Amino acid sequence: MAIRKIAVVGHPILRTVARRLTREELLSEPIQRFIDDLVETMRDANGAGLAAIQVYEPVQICAIEVKDNPRYPYKPNVPLTVLVNPEITPISAETFENFEGCLSVPDLRGVVDRVTEIRVRAWDRHANEIDQVVRGLTAGTYQHEVDHLHGKLFLDRVRDTTTLCTWKEFERHHQASFAERARALVARFGS
Ligand code: NI
Repeated sequence: MAIRKIAVVGHPILRTVARRLTREELLSEPIQRFIDDLVETMRDANGAGLAAIQVYEPVQICAIEVKDNPRYPYKPNVPLTVLVNPEITPISAETFENFEGCLSVPDLRGVVDRVTEIRVRAWDRHANEIDQVVRGLTAGTYQHEVDHLHGKLFLDRVRDTTTLCTWKEFERHHQASFAERARALVARFGS
């Protein structure tokens, strides 16, 4: 396994649309090794998720995992999930304001609207079908990662640019109120 370099905003690869994988490609040795690297890189960087495109591989794979994450102390834990060729369908019109950051956008956070309840259809890393409903804060994480596979960054979805802040200023001025809203969401949806 190897830790990969993470592309940062301005690199054109982050603006490309990742290509879908066939079952044969997914199960191939190089792609399976690549998924190991993706997960290792996400964990090394304390990410809550990482998309293949962020490590210069424009294929439709992303990983999500939250395990007492120091970057996101208010996020509920999410077991390691690898999504291949994911498709998200909103199942509610309701949205919430999520304060997001991204490993490809160093030291910047901002408020983004995310749908509170989504249906996710994908393959797991072994090409087994995933069909699940994801709610609450965790639904925001899924939407953020799947956006990457379509060349989108959270920055594109920030409606009010006055919410943009560095991590230090987030902790000083915004974390307490956001954590309170996040906890209410987690209490309601369990995730
Ligand atoms: Ni990101």
